[in-house]
This record gives sequence, structure tokens and C-alpha cells, in this order.
Amino acid sequence: MADLVIRNAHVLDGSGGPGADGDVAIEGDRIVEVGDVGPVGATATEIDADGLVLSPGFVDVHTHDDGAMIRHPDLAFKVAQGCTSLVLGNCGFSAAPAEPGQPDTSGLLGGAPSWSDLEGYAAAVTAAGPAINAVALVGHNTIRQLVMGDPGSATYGPDKRREPTVAELGRMADHVSRAMEQGACGFSTGLIYEPGRYSRTPEVIELARRAADAGGLYASHIRNEGDRLLEAVDEAITIGSEAGLPVQLSHHKASGRRNWGKVVESLARVDEANAAGADITLDVYPYTAGSGPMAQYFDLADINTELAEVIRFASCPAFRAYEGRMAVDIAAEEGSTPAEVIHKVLTAPEGRRTICIQFIIDEGDIETNLRHPRMMVGSDGVVDLAGRPHPRLFGTFPRILAHYVRDRGVLTLEEAVRRMTSLPARRFGLADRGEVRAGAFADLVLFDAAAVVDTATYDDPKQEPTGIDAVIVNGAVAYRSGTHTGAAAGRMLRYEPS
Ligand code: CU
Ligand code: ZN
Repeated sequence: MADLVIRNAHVLDGSGGPGADGDVAIEGDRIVEVGDVGPVGATATEIDADGLVLSPGFVDVHTHDDGAMIRHPDLAFKVAQGCTSLVLGNCGFSAAPAEPGQPDTSGLLGGAPSWSDLEGYAAAVTAAGPAINAVALVGHNTIRQLVMGDPGSATYGPDKRREPTVAELGRMADHVSRAMEQGACGFSTGLIYEPGRYSRTPEVIELARRAADAGGLYASHIRNEGDRLLEAVDEAITIGSEAGLPVQLSHHKASGRRNWGKVVESLARVDEANAAGADITLDVYPYTAGSGPMAQYFDLADINTELAEVIRFASCPAFRAYEGRMAVDIAAEEGSTPAEVIHKVLTAPEGRRTICIQFIIDEGDIETNLRHPRMMVGSDGVVDLAGRPHPRLFGTFPRILAHYVRDRGVLTLEEAVRRMTSLPARRFGLADRGEVRAGAFADLVLFDAAAVVDTATYDDPKQEPTGIDAVIVNGAVAYRSGTHTGAAAGRMLRYEPS
């Protein structure tokens, strides 16, 4: 007997093919019927979806929601966008493995972990009762710091750039294997960040091999996204081929004005490698600004003045009044320079916890990226709700539908839905998800394709989109007509390669 029936929807099944009008019946956590659903028992909930599109729930392939799964288990900012599954552990930073009780230096967890491995983290997530599903990558920066120590600490030793010893590399590799055994979908790096930036390619290959052994993938925030973008893409391709596993290039971009347009060349390298037998996919966020921990982008001894010019403060515990403002404007007001503002903030107590937004990306490059058939969507939102986070945290998926599909016609609605559902679900091993068919999990989003719109802006970023009518996770209605129901039907998923 169906528990929930959605009637008269325009159903897009996630395949990219044309939709069909019809009904979808759900029993428990699965879809049981698609098409013409006859009368069902009086106990079933019915939703009339006339004029609305019903598609698989969106998969956010690039998140930093590892801590939010526990601290904000309603994941309201993701559910309201139509997301039903997340990929955690990106850019080399993952919640597990960890040393229980040790302070969280990544800033992603927002507190000391109580777990030591992915199994323990998954148990903590389950206990928190998340509204949404997630699968995890295991992060290079995390395991390197766990095994070798924090190069930012006074006790690390004189050589920040040192390579791991054979024993250390072995312990790091064992962490990757263990995470894979416990359900991770792959291994991630963030090679611009500390301490990953001190690693050389062979170290990464060695660790990626352990993910390859378990059929996982390699997801990378590559070593350089600006002047040396192409070399960094080549390195990722090499890692994939040497370690023998698929590659996901995270938040593909060419940063810095003089590099704009270079994504064409970098996508050409990806196509060439794929034609020669590699298996490379990518993701992008639909905004011209990036965001992340400011301390990681600046060398205090030699502040990058060009970058300082395009910095805006998202969250700044040292100077709350700076939140939402550009460093250039603050400098003009204070009679200093943007570089001096950055220096002042980073050297203040708690200054290293600053999250910034940097306007470094070309709008045309975003469209080039979105046209690529192997391009997925990842928000890359950083969850610090105290300040003014990058609007991508609240707006990414509706922005694709509103701006890039409806207004700009960069891709069709059917194709956009495929890139946000079945493509990522297969890539990240979310079995029986990302499609609307009998037997699949009932992870669904119902939206008004003509009206859906992101309303989060840089000035006012914590705004949920409009036009998302309902979000269903594992058969439970998590969101309906602007209201979060409190359903906590999300699950930690184990990677199941297809
Ligand atoms: Cu990231
Ligand atoms: Zn990144």
C-alpha cells in the first residue's frame, strides 16, 4: 500500500531524456510505481503536483557539511534547495579519521570530534538524526596532519615541507584503506592547503592506490587553479592513471583575471585524457566568487595584493563589523591598503578563523564549464552561519535552474537535472538513487521550473530559494511549501560502485 502519492507531475527521471506527465507512488523509503497510479488507501498522503516538475533529489557533490551533519542536522540550507544527498570530505578535509577530543584545526567540524574513524563519525551523524543523506570522502590533509602533525604548530619541527617517512606514509595509507572499508567513496586532496601543499605527486599516488583497491575515486582541489592550472590538471590526470582510479576535478575554474578563458584548454586536456582511456569528471559552482579560510590564501610575509583587492569578509570573528564588506572599502575608510587590512585581520586573535570570499572567476568560464557533459554541480558552501557566508551555501541548485537553464539557456532542464542527479549518484556510488523509477529510493524534489529562483545574495546570503515545493528524503517529506517538517530521514550511505 502506498504511503505517499504525487499526482499529475511532469516527471523527469534523471536520465536527461524527455519527461512524462504522471504520478509517483511511494511505499516506505522506495518508489513503487511511476505512471498512472490508481486510487490508493485513505491513509496515504496525496500531493497534487499539477504544473510542477518532479525529479530525483539533487546530489551536492562538493560540500563541507561534515560538521553540519551533526551541528545542524536539519541541513535546512541544503534541503530547501532540493538536495537529498551530499558528498562530504572534500578538498582534503574530512571529519574522519580523527583523534577524539582533539581540537578541530580545520574549522569544518566546529568542535572536537568524539570519533576516531568513519564508522564512529557515521554513528555520531546517525545519532544526530540528519534530514539528508551523505557519503564521505577521506581527506589527505586530515590524515597527513593526524599522522605527521600540524605544520602550523610550534612543535612540528623546522621543515614544514618535509616528506613523510616510509612508516608515516604507510600509516596514512592504512587510514585510507580503513575509511574505504567503512564506506568512503574515495580519497580527496586539497593541494593548495596546508599540509597537502607540501606533498609531492608520488605520495598522493601511493595513497590514491588504496582508494583504487576498493574501487573508489580520487577527488581533487588541484594544486593550482590560476597561472599553473594546466600543470595542476595534468598532475591530477597522472595521479588517476598511475593509481588506476577515476578522477573528479573539484570546482573547476581559472582564477585570476589573466587566466580567464583557460578552462577551455583545461577541459580539452580532460577530453583528450578521457578519449585515451582515463575517466575524469568535474564539478563547478555557479558563482564568480570562491570562498574559504583566508589564512590559507595569504602568506603574511608577502601578501598577494592582487588577491587582496578582490577579498570580501564572510565570517570574521576578530572584526565582526567587517563581515559582508570588501577589504578595499575597509581600507579606503581606514586610510590603509587592502593588504594591510588582510594583515591586520590575520594577525589578530582568532584572525585565522576568518572565512573570506574572493571574486576571482569569469562568468563566461562558468557557462563553458556548465556546457561540458561531464560537469556536475557542487556548492562548496562553507558552513559558518554566524557571518555572511557565500550565497552558494543557500542558492547553488536553484541558481542553476533559474539563471543557467531558464534565463541563459546554457543547458536544458532535462540535462541540468541529469547532471545534478543520476550522473553524480552513479559517480559517487549512491546505489538506487538519482533516478525516478520503481524500486529506487524515494529521494525526490518537486519544483516550479518557471518560478524557481535563488534569493541568496552576497549582501543577504542566508535566504532560502523560492519555487521549491517539496523535498522527499527516503520517502519522508522533509520540506513542503517553505516549511521544514523536521523529518530526520537522512542516512549515512556506504559507497556502492555501480
Ligand atoms: Cu571545497
Ligand atoms: Zn576546494
